[in-house]
Amino acid sequence: MAIRPTRLALSLLCVVMTIGTASRGGGNSDEATLLAFKAGHSSSVLASWNSSASFCNWEGVTCGRRRPTRVVALDLRSSNLTGTLTPVVGNLTFLRWLNLSSNGLYGEIPPSLGRLRHLRSLDLGSNSLSVIPYSLFNLTSLKYVYLFRNRFSGFVPSTVGRLRFVERLGLYSNRLEADKSKGWEFITSLANCSQLQYLDIAYNSFSGKLPRSIVNLSTTLQELYVDHNSISGSMPEEIGNLIGLDMLDLGFTNLSGVIPTSIGKLANLVEIGLHYTSLSGLIPSSIGNLTNLNRLYAFYSNFEGPIPASLGELKKLFVLGLSNNHLNGSIPREIFELPSLSWFLDLSSNSLSGPIPSEVGTLVNINAVDLSGNQLSGQIPDSIGNCIVLESLYLEENSFEGGIPQSLSNLKGLTILNLTMNKFSGKIPDTIGSIQQLQKLSLAHNNFSGPIPASLQNLTTLWQLDVSFNNLQGEVPVKGVFRNLTFSSVVGNDNLCGGIPQLHLPPCPILDVRKNKNQHLKSLAIALPTTGAMLVLVSVIVLILLHHRKLKRRQNRQATSLVIEEQYQRVSYYVLSRGSNDFSEANLLGKGRYGSVYRCTLDNEDALVAVKVFDLQQLGSSKSFEAECEALRRVRHRSLIKIITCCSSIDPRGQEFKALVLEFMPNGSLDGWIHPKSSKCSPSNTLSFSQRLNIVIDIFEAMDYLHNHCQPSIIHCDMKPSNILLAEDMSAKVGDFGISKILPKSTTKTHLNSKSSIGIRGSIGYIAPEYGEGSAASKLGDIYSLGIMLLEMFTATSPTDDMFKDSLNLHDFAAAAFPDRALEIADETIWLHETNYTDVTDASMTRGIIQQSLVSVFGLGISCSKQQPRERMVLADAVSKIHAIRDEYFKSQMVEQRAIEH
Ligand SMILES: *[C@@H]1O[C@H](CO)[C@@H](O)[C@H](O)[C@H]1NC(C)=O
Ligand SMILES: *[C@@H]1O[C@H](CO)[C@@H](O)[C@H](O)[C@H]1NC(C)=O
Ligand SMILES: *[C@@H]1O[C@H](CO)[C@@H](O)[C@H](O)[C@H]1NC(C)=O
Ligand SMILES: *[C@@H]1O[C@H](CO)[C@@H](O)[C@H](O)[C@H]1NC(C)=O
Ligand SMILES: *[C@@H]1O[C@H](CO)[C@@H](O)[C@H](O)[C@H]1NC(C)=O
Ligand SMILES: *[C@@H]1O[C@H](CO)[C@@H](O)[C@H](O)[C@H]1NC(C)=O
Ligand SMILES: *[C@@H]1O[C@H](CO)[C@@H](O)[C@H](O)[C@H]1NC(C)=O
Ligand SMILES: *[C@@H]1O[C@H](CO)[C@@H](O)[C@H](O)[C@H]1NC(C)=O
Repeated sequence: MAIRPTRLALSLLCVVMTIGTASRGGGNSDEATLLAFKAGHSSSVLASWNSSASFCNWEGVTCGRRRPTRVVALDLRSSNLTGTLTPVVGNLTFLRWLNLSSNGLYGEIPPSLGRLRHLRSLDLGSNSLSVIPYSLFNLTSLKYVYLFRNRFSGFVPSTVGRLRFVERLGLYSNRLEADKSKGWEFITSLANCSQLQYLDIAYNSFSGKLPRSIVNLSTTLQELYVDHNSISGSMPEEIGNLIGLDMLDLGFTNLSGVIPTSIGKLANLVEIGLHYTSLSGLIPSSIGNLTNLNRLYAFYSNFEGPIPASLGELKKLFVLGLSNNHLNGSIPREIFELPSLSWFLDLSSNSLSGPIPSEVGTLVNINAVDLSGNQLSGQIPDSIGNCIVLESLYLEENSFEGGIPQSLSNLKGLTILNLTMNKFSGKIPDTIGSIQQLQKLSLAHNNFSGPIPASLQNLTTLWQLDVSFNNLQGEVPVKGVFRNLTFSSVVGNDNLCGGIPQLHLPPCPILDVRKNKNQHLKSLAIALPTTGAMLVLVSVIVLILLHHRKLKRRQNRQATSLVIEEQYQRVSYYVLSRGSNDFSEANLLGKGRYGSVYRCTLDNEDALVAVKVFDLQQLGSSKSFEAECEALRRVRHRSLIKIITCCSSIDPRGQEFKALVLEFMPNGSLDGWIHPKSSKCSPSNTLSFSQRLNIVIDIFEAMDYLHNHCQPSIIHCDMKPSNILLAEDMSAKVGDFGISKILPKSTTKTHLNSKSSIGIRGSIGYIAPEYGEGSAASKLGDIYSLGIMLLEMFTATSPTDDMFKDSLNLHDFAAAAFPDRALEIADETIWLHETNYTDVTDASMTRGIIQQSLVSVFGLGISCSKQQPRERMVLADAVSKIHAIRDEYFKSQMVEQRAIEH
């Protein structure tokens, strides 16, 4: 008790003293300094720095709690500051945080910054500054130093090692160099910084040999980026000392020699970049010890010898890129036994031989497989049909033989199939026409025989088709993709006929000779001389084209790999912050329980993405981030929202920052379409009946994938319309995996009675009744939510509507109207889309067809949302049911159309 007055007196004394010095020095207060700063930088943001408010309340200014007249933080990022940074900043001697990033500052950083002894965080990133003063390295309290994306050049001084407590040092994208004569002293001196976690010197002008002293950096180092420099030399054997590393990027350098075996000691490594280097020799099998590895990039280097089978130990790997090396031997079976592989497997442009093992069917989560440009042989295994989320399959330029397996038609999401330049033979199966998402199909330069399947006409998404140089015969269809086919896509097949006139193929023999004889002969007479001349011309053109394509292909390859590189580049806090204008209100797309989603344009690219920023103050949000990252990393399905990257970083204030970068969905959430905000409903803000059916199919298929086809299964736990997003073409994607649950492998289909320790998962109205009684998350719980959502989609009645306040719920409401009063409860806006009838009979026919389908839809919704979990329909059945409903609807519609036409 006795101490108290003394302490109070002391602190009072301090205040008095500060005020005292301030007034004595006349213009020396922080306010005067700020005004001098304002005078040095004309910016509209600084207009608010005027006498209408105390300077501690000026935009970007924060004063201390204990020293209320001293500025402790100055945050003027993205504030349009230009000119040279005024030296008066150095007078804010109590400053702990200084952020002037993303402005137009140029010239020297004033040496007076060396007076900011309390500075912990300095962020001058993304300006045009060019000189780093030596005094900066006297600021021993600095923890975060961000000087990236400027024009700093020259040597990094070895005094950098004085920043003893530095944790994060970001210098990327400058023109910095190492003082070669002194052997990269600064790296040596950084060995003193025992808390260093992040060192980024990528995209600079460092050259010369990578210093061996790099292995003496702290074992706390987690991220090391030296990529995009002209660094040569070899990787030091002791690289294995850096046991804290989870990210190591050595890509786009001139490093040569072999990868040291000790790499296997970096057990925390999540991502490693060894691409676009001159590294050579064998890929050491110790890489199989990196059991936490998610991404392995080693394309465009000089690796040789076989792919080590130990890669099969990387049970968390989801990207494997080894293309454009000199790898040989057969592809180890073990690689195909990694169900975690989900993004892509790229082994293209090597010298690999042997067959694709049947284990390929284990890759149930893979999106893209590129094995092109090798010497692979044998048949495509039937088991490929198990890779149900495969979207691209590149097998061109190998020696594969045999036919196209029927099972390929199981791959409903396949969009690109390239089998060019192999030895495939046999007929092209008709079932290829059931791969509904197919966009590009190339079967050129093989030995295929028989007709071109007419079923390909039915694929509305197919726009590129190449069947040139085979032994195909018979009629070329004329509809669908064949409508704008060019001659080069069918050339080199001697026995094709028909097709669109532009192909200049001979007409097909006409069966009914009597009727058409004359005309046939006439057209032949015209066709023969022209086709003869055409053929000569065309073969010349084709030769030129082929040569050109070969060239183009190399360019394309380069391009695709670069795209991949771009796509998986790390995205920093700054890129996201800048792209969303500092997470501005204007870019806010939506708010959820654990954070907000913003529209964001990625730097220098016009790529629009959605960024979900987690509110880490919110209890459980960190866990939610991890759940979502993990779930989305594992899954790949065309109807699940795609994750571009997870960003877990520290913002310039030293706060944790966690965000997910997701694909951007231009049409927003399903919720907005079922319950339009505008009071005026029109076809442009509501959904037609068939759109609704298609959306349901997308959702059900995605859920079926999560529950039954991905390993381990995932329970979504939060199915509701606001978590369904619509793409440009109105196809639906399931999003928000924030509370999803990954089922342990041993879990059986349902586990109804186990009590949950995680509390209630889900949203009111959609949550299964048994969850309220403490049951654990289960597939049947998801099915309940699906059922409710289905009913909502077709009735436009929300399960949280006021009418359900008492005991009634949406399920009972629908069940009461089922089946006779289905039309009564149906969403009125469906009819806005059904108006182009010619007369009353058509109108009533359409109504009749929709009514029929509505009854089936409601039946399905009711069966899925039964009170008793055991009574609910299982998902696989629901999927077939909804498909059947849509097929039936389209069929009836077509019948009606025809009836009207005749
Ligand atoms: C900044 O500090 C220097 C040295 O103490 C002093 O000469 C100068 O007047 C101060 N500037 C302002 C604007 O307070
Ligand atoms: C002074 O600042 C306030 C906000 O702090 C602003 O609203 C006002 O327009 C400013 N006055 C002038 C003259 O710029
Ligand atoms: C930044 O300055 C430029 C030109 O001086 C101006 O056009 C622009 O609107 C300013 N931006 C902001 C956010 O103040
Ligand atoms: C850094 O600090 C040392 C000792 O405190 C001092 O001698 C030196 O002049 C300072 N260097 C700069 C550039 O301010
Ligand atoms: C890799 O793991 C194996 C087995 O655990 C061990 O014997 C070997 O020393 C490890 N290699 C490296 C480089 O860590
Ligand atoms: C298929 O491969 C061939 C040969 O490499 C290439 O020219 C063509 O562009 C590829 N087509 C597609 C759709 O990938
Ligand atoms: C194309 O689709 C129509 C209508 O769906 C169907 O009747 C026909 O059999 C299909 N054609 C082929 C060749 O699959
Ligand atoms: C094919 O032709 C149709 C019209 O006949 C046209 O609308 C479409 O854009 C063309 N597609 C391509 C890929 O050229």
